[in-house]
Amino acid sequence: MKEMKKGLEGVVALDTKISYIDGIQGILKYRGVNIEDLADLSYDAVSYLLITGKMPDEAELSEYSRMLVENRHINGKLIEVLKDFDFGVEALDGLRTAISCTAHFDEKNNHHTPEANRNKAIRLVAKFPTIVAALHRASFGDKPIEPMNNLSHGANFLYMLSGKIPTELEAEAMEKDLILSAEHELNPSTFSLRIAASTISDMYSAVICGLCTLKGPLHGGARKGVMDMLDEIGSIDNARDYALGKLERKEKIMGFGHRVYKTLDPRARIYKDVAKRLAEENGDTSWFDMAEELEHILYHEFIEIRGKPIYPNVDFYSAVVYKYLDIPAELATSIFAMGRVSGWIAHCMEQYSDNRVIRPRAHTV
Ligand code: SDX
Repeated sequence: MKEMKKGLEGVVALDTKISYIDGIQGILKYRGVNIEDLADLSYDAVSYLLITGKMPDEAELSEYSRMLVENRHINGKLIEVLKDFDFGVEALDGLRTAISCTAHFDEKNNHHTPEANRNKAIRLVAKFPTIVAALHRASFGDKPIEPMNNLSHGANFLYMLSGKIPTELEAEAMEKDLILSAEHELNPSTFSLRIAASTISDMYSAVICGLCTLKGPLHGGARKGVMDMLDEIGSIDNARDYALGKLERKEKIMGFGHRVYKTLDPRARIYKDVAKRLAEENGDTSWFDMAEELEHILYHEFIEIRGKPIYPNVDFYSAVVYKYLDIPAELATSIFAMGRVSGWIAHCMEQYSDNRVIRPRAHTV
């Protein structure tokens, strides 16, 4: 038996056309397009690109957006079923259960034709934000807010959450967040989804595998961890003691480090810029300043202790963006999933299109 690689580090498990990462140069592409060029598009356009493999022209984008808007509504029974559960600490638990229920409401759930899968894809992308917003409101006994058709995917989510139409910058920030979260090659949640898809399990089941894997604090759950950490630090004056204490106790600092990037995650650079602009619009830059101070402290401390710096990953400045958007920490992982669902679906379809069941070996010790 060949050598075992703990955590499958560096192991190439499959071919993909969906995304490309150069972890040394800090390059990320979706379907051959640099993330910097995608960040200014709409989430709908990026979702279309990921799922179909083609950049939409004007007519294709308008038709795709129309189908997403048409499918934003959720079955009223869903909230009835879920409203009495307590998802207070981690809303992703509610989202996971809701997607399972949504599969039951979809009579084509177990149909496996390309057409049935395309329709499931539209429903999933369209309904994720409505479910997240409605469940959050239900946890306070508030009624869901109907989607507003003329708002973008991201702006409509913020509207359904609070009932307020977001400012132009807030809407842009939410769209960018969903785009930057949408896809990242063979990350843990996508890998788990591809294993499920490789058994020809249905798309809902595969997406639920993705959700369950995203939840952990070493993956998508780190975004909530960063929000909690910023609350705990409380002030820029406490950042150094907090960081040094963590390092001394050999505890992981949420939102830092990455298996693939050995330089700054290109998504973190874009998030940082959005967070700074939101801070300035807000007139209170304290969350941003605290985060930037932590970034600088850790960069230099890691050089001192380990001879190489550590960089923020995608979850660090996204958490700062959520702070300025008034998003509660318990929603952070679900919002990550709202973006990631397009990438998951793209991987699910790619796996179905050229399948062999994924079944590695273990080395018995
Ligand atoms: C995501 O893979 C993807 O693509 C995921 C993702 C996506 O878009 O799908 O990019 C999203 O999941 C981002 C990562 C979110 N997680 C966190 O922010 C949690 C904190 N980060 C770490 O736990 C860690 O950096 C990981 C999990 C992200 C990566 O883990 P690795 O590759 O297994 O690295 P490691 O834990 O073996 O760390 C290597 C060294 C260790 O030191 P030594 O034992 O060699 O001395 O770096 C240290 C670690 O202790 N280290 C950290 C650290 N990250 C690494 N030390 C303190 N705080 C950290 N955050």
